[in-house]
Amino acid sequence: MKKLRVGVIYGGRSGEHEVSVTSAASIFKHIDRTRYEPVPIRIEKDGRWTLADRPPAALSAAEVIQQARVSPARPVRAGRETLLAPYPSEDTMITVERRPSSDGTAPADVERAVVTGLGLDVVFPVLHGPYGEDGTVQGLLELANVPYVGPGVLASSAGMDKAVMKVLFAGAGLPLVAWRGFVRAEWERGRDRIVKDIGTLGLPVFVKPANLGSSVGISKVKTPAELVPAIELALEYDRKVVVEAGVVNAREIECAVLGNDDPETSLPGEIIPSREFYDYEAKYLDEGSRSVIPAELTALQVTEVQRLSVAAFRSIDAAGLSRVDFLMSRDTGAIFVNEINTMPGFTTISMYAKLWEASGVGYPALVDRLIQLAQARHSEKQRLRTSAV
Ligand SMILES: Nc1ncnc2c1ncn2[C@@H]1O[C@H](COP(=O)(O)OP(=O)(O)O)[C@@H](O)[C@H]1O
Ligand SMILES: [Mg+2]
Repeated sequence: MKKLRVGVIYGGRSGEHEVSVTSAASIFKHIDRTRYEPVPIRIEKDGRWTLADRPPAALSAAEVIQQARVSPARPVRAGRETLLAPYPSEDTMITVERRPSSDGTAPADVERAVVTGLGLDVVFPVLHGPYGEDGTVQGLLELANVPYVGPGVLASSAGMDKAVMKVLFAGAGLPLVAWRGFVRAEWERGRDRIVKDIGTLGLPVFVKPANLGSSVGISKVKTPAELVPAIELALEYDRKVVVEAGVVNAREIECAVLGNDDPETSLPGEIIPSREFYDYEAKYLDEGSRSVIPAELTALQVTEVQRLSVAAFRSIDAAGLSRVDFLMSRDTGAIFVNEINTMPGFTTISMYAKLWEASGVGYPALVDRLIQLAQARHSEKQRLRTSAV
């Protein structure tokens, strides 16, 4: 049997570049090499694409982030510049190498471009955050007509925008905390009215840039004086801001979803952050955050979390995988859907993989299933009529 060539696209322009690198390292380490031939395709922080000489090393997210902090700009590209063709082609990737023109027909400083093509059978865009998890890369993969792992353009972008996501969740009748959303222009025109309106949510509130992840730019506001600086911080990251009523004494429950039109759910797990809330430090740098899998929940609560996870997945029209995150009040037991992550952290020790592990699906099997789901979705799309005549 011919091996399937899987383009693993990782890195990316977002603040979650490092996390993506570690997710990709896990895929390379554990993918079944008897069936798949993985190809490392790295998106640099400046957005350029590289056909990497070798797959990323399996460091922890903390190590990769520390490394990036020590030497932020490492322009050395261990690989060749590459492009994904924005049209259906046998050559999915087009690699350009510049070589000095040495045949004597041109001056020595004129470069010669050597172009080579590489076909991919399927793509695994293991990118987190903007310019990767938000439908942009998915759009390019649609244009290339290549099967790819994970949700499509609409679900990816809806899942990235916390305001749009909430509107779709509300439309599906999912339980949400009270929230407000606004854009910079509205803030500049009428901040007094917005501050007054947010006042009705009580305290604490969480202020978030609408389109980001990994808790970047998020503040927990406990006193009125902290509100305006928190909003201005969020506006540094996005033109759109979401403010939510804080769930006091919240448990953080997460559930993994896998499938296309008939998605399955894992057992729910619980995150116990090392800090006041699950911020960037607690997620990746602080050793103290823990997970409890499966979460200590009643059978009824488990069923409810799983039902809500599928409903959230369907409400944005997701496919392949997603992780749905909940906030659960310790005081009242009320469950709120917090968010959906359409390309959750994907290392072997990430919540998504651990939830499936505990539910009987090991990491290599997970990669396998995701590739099959990508192919199934793609072949279904190929059957559609594309013209009216
Ligand atoms: N409404 C809320 N009530 C209580 N805690 C919250 C609320 N919103 C966010 N948090 C805390 O902030 C963290 C990050 O928020 P989240 O919306 O999940 O952003 P991200 O997309 O960056 O993960 C959550 O994991 C939780 O610890
Ligand atoms: Mg989150």
